[in-house]
Amino acid sequence: MEKSIEPLKKLKFYIHTFGCQMNENDSERIAGILASRGAQMSHSPEECDFIIINTCAVREKSEEKLYSLLGRLAPLKRRRNITIGVVGCVAQLYCSQLIEKKPFIDFVIGPDNYWQIPKILSDQGKEKIVSTSQSHTWPEIPPHQICRESSISGYVTIMEGCNNFCSYCVVPFTRGREKFRPMDSILKEVKDLACKRYKEIQLLGQNVNTYQDPQTGKGFSALLKEVNRVDGIEWIRFITSHPKNFKPDLAMTMIEAEKICHQLHLPLQSGSSPVLERMNRDYTREEYLEKIAILRDLMPDISLSTDIIVGFPGETEKEFQETLNVLENVRFTNIFSFRYSPRPLTAASFYKDSVPFEVKRKRLIELQALQKKLQLEMNKSFIGRVMKVLCLGKSKKDPEMYSGRNEGLQVVNFESKKDRVGKFTDVLITGCGPYSLKGKAMNK
Ligand code: 5AD
Ligand code: SF4
Repeated sequence: MEKSIEPLKKLKFYIHTFGCQMNENDSERIAGILASRGAQMSHSPEECDFIIINTCAVREKSEEKLYSLLGRLAPLKRRRNITIGVVGCVAQLYCSQLIEKKPFIDFVIGPDNYWQIPKILSDQGKEKIVSTSQSHTWPEIPPHQICRESSISGYVTIMEGCNNFCSYCVVPFTRGREKFRPMDSILKEVKDLACKRYKEIQLLGQNVNTYQDPQTGKGFSALLKEVNRVDGIEWIRFITSHPKNFKPDLAMTMIEAEKICHQLHLPLQSGSSPVLERMNRDYTREEYLEKIAILRDLMPDISLSTDIIVGFPGETEKEFQETLNVLENVRFTNIFSFRYSPRPLTAASFYKDSVPFEVKRKRLIELQALQKKLQLEMNKSFIGRVMKVLCLGKSKKDPEMYSGRNEGLQVVNFESKKDRVGKFTDVLITGCGPYSLKGKAMNK
C-alpha cells in the first residue's frame, strides 16, 4: 500500500449512483479503488466520512436529482463537515461551475479521473479539486478489487464514449469520444467473475457494436466468441447497440455462441424517418424495421427492447403516430420512454423546443399505455410455458417469493420450496402483469 494514501484507512465512504449501468459499474470500480486503500463502504450517508455522488446528465430530470440529493445532504455537511464529491457526467459537463453553484461540494471529478479519488481524499481539507480532463487510455483496476453489487450477474465495461452526436444527446460531451478496453483485460475480468461463480455477464458500452481491440483490431463478434468460451458463465448480454452499426455478422454470432442470450436492446428513439434524420440517427424507419425482420428471421425467440423519445423538436402528431405504429409492429418486450429534454451543448438544444410540455406529456402517456397493453398481451401468451430463470434474490414485494430474469430479461417472480438464489431454475409461468411474469419452480 502506498504511504501517501494510508490516511484512508478505516474511513467510511458512501456512494450514491444515478443513471445507467455504466454508472453503476463505475461506482463498483470507485468502491473497489477506495476499499483497496483501506476505506470501508457504508450504506448510510449518516455514518460516513465522505460521500461520492455519481451523476447522470442525460436528461434535465436526471440532473435535478443531484441537486435535490445535495439539498438533503446540506444539513449533514453543516453538522459533521463530511467530504462531498460529485463525479460522473454532470461533473464532466459543468466542472468548476458546480462548486460555484453549490460551494459545499469538495471535489468534482469526471469519468476519466476516478483513479485520482484516493489521493484527493487523503489530501482533503487543503483545497477544492476539479479534475475533468479527458484521456484516451483505459484506466485498469485489478478485477478482484471491484466491489460489485451482485454476486450473480456482473457488469464488464468494454468501451466508453460515443462518436455519434445524436442531436439530442449530451453523452459525447460527457464521456468523450469512443475508447476501447483491451480484449485481454476484458477476458481477465470475465474469467475472474467465472472463478467467483458468477452466472451472467453484461458487457457495457455506449455503442458496443463498434468495439475494436486496440491491440489486435479484433471486433465485437470476436470478443463475444472469446467471452463465450469462458467456462462457468452461462448467459452473456450486451448493451447498448446502435441500429446503424448492428450488422448481420453480429446476429450470426448471437446464434453460434450458445451463451449469448437471444435478447437485444436496440434504441429506436422515433418511428418517423424525418424525426430520425433531425435526431442525426443515420437510419430510417424502414431500415430499422428491416433489421428487426432479419433478427426475427434468424432468432424467432428473440426478446427486443428499445428507447423512445417523444416530443422531439418539430415532432408532429402524424410523426408521433408512426412511433406508436412501430411499437405495434415490433412488439417489444419492454421499452424505456422519455419526454424530450434539451441538453447543453447538443445540436438540438439550438432548435426551437417546439412541442409544448402538455403535448409531450400526453404523448408519453399514450405511448406507455399502448406498450402496457401490448406487454400484457404478450405476457399472457407465456402462461403455461416453462422457462429458465436466473434467480437474483428474494422478491422485494413479497419475501415469500423469489425473483429473477428469464433469457428475454423479463422479471419473473416465483414460488419455490428450495432456496434458488444464484441458481438457474425452470419455472412454470402461471400468471402475469404487464411488467412481470409469475410462476412456480418446477420440482427437481
Ligand atoms: N431527452 C430525452 N431523452 C434522452 N435520451 C438521451 N438524451 C435525451 C434527451 N435529451 C434517452 C435516449 C437514450 C436514453 C439513454 O436516454 O432514448 O437512448
Ligand atoms: Fe447518445 Fe446517440 Fe451516442 Fe447513444 S449513440 S450515447 S444516444 S449520441
